[in-house]
Amino acid sequence: MKKILVMAGDGIGAEIMAQTLRVVHWFAEHRGVPMQVREELFGMDAWHQHGHLMRDQTWQAVLESDAILFGAIGSPAYEQIPLEHRQVDQLLRLRKELDLFINLRPVKALPALEEASTLRPEVLRGTDMVLVRELSSGIYFGTPRGVETRADGTRRVVNTMAYTESEIERIARAAFELARQRRRQVCNVDKANVLENGAFWREVVMALHRREFSDVELTHLYVDNAAMQLVRNPRQFDVMLTENLFGDILSDCAAMVCGSIGMLPSVSMSAPDAQGQRYALYEPIHGSAPDIAGRGIANPLGSILSFALCLRHTLGLPQEAELLEAAAERVVTAGIRTADIASAGRERVSTQAMGDAVLRELDSSAHP
Ligand code: IPM
Ligand code: MG
Repeated sequence: MKKILVMAGDGIGAEIMAQTLRVVHWFAEHRGVPMQVREELFGMDAWHQHGHLMRDQTWQAVLESDAILFGAIGSPAYEQIPLEHRQVDQLLRLRKELDLFINLRPVKALPALEEASTLRPEVLRGTDMVLVRELSSGIYFGTPRGVETRADGTRRVVNTMAYTESEIERIARAAFELARQRRRQVCNVDKANVLENGAFWREVVMALHRREFSDVELTHLYVDNAAMQLVRNPRQFDVMLTENLFGDILSDCAAMVCGSIGMLPSVSMSAPDAQGQRYALYEPIHGSAPDIAGRGIANPLGSILSFALCLRHTLGLPQEAELLEAAAERVVTAGIRTADIASAGRERVSTQAMGDAVLRELDSSAHP
């Protein structure tokens, strides 16, 4: 029995998670997927209820969980919270303390959504790649950091992009291993032409490749060129490996390949322990979207497809994952669209109606 902890979080988190939970319960009921689901408040709701963005009890539930289904974090309301509570971004805390260093962001161009992208259909057609982003180190966590006032009274700000050799090696290994299950191509992305950080990163990736993964094809791009190649010809990529900040930027860029950032799922994982257990956090890559929160129009598919990744990676049920992914694809192929993926003149459905459509497809696929 796997323990699934649900934290909807801020903004549109509650709306999309409500639909995802319907799907989770469907798999428990109709497919006998062994899960124990528990919900905890996180973010502004937790602040209003308990006076903490994430209280100790929630943190305990996190440590006991096999998987976390996460909605979104971020709200203009954070401005009202005292600084000492805001300082630690709770999502970054989860990533750091659970050592979720492997972040997988699959990007697949669905034929039905070609028209929803700003890219031309012939550019994105056939794209099927995974961005492997290092998630627990680099400039997001490096020290020294912060604003300092110098002797002459002027201010200076610093952040540090630091990596140890083993941090680079373990994420590179994850990328090579993933590539072995796919088309055996890894494109490493760094800034080796300018940053020592990038040159070192590349050196470590190449050494590991020579030692253990010579059956995988390894190429390299500087991050500026990688951004261009993602919109010029995304089909060329199988697995893209990169560090934390570059991965943040490039994954938003890659999102346009599948029409909308609202479609993209992700998983963040730690290394497996001796029993093969690992922490995993599943979340759509879109944020809390405060501008549309509470209106019932957000696209729940990024979150629902994140649960498909949970079926695959935490529950070890790839066929159930495919069942769900296929159902979601049939829904968009049938022309059912939330606002973010609707083209001009098409009818737009609500978050709830999108959830209804996925459940209908699941019902009909399971009982043909
Ligand atoms: C992401 C998000 C986060 C990040 C934010 C919400 C901290 O943009 O997961 O891509 O920058 O990593
Ligand atoms: Mg981001």
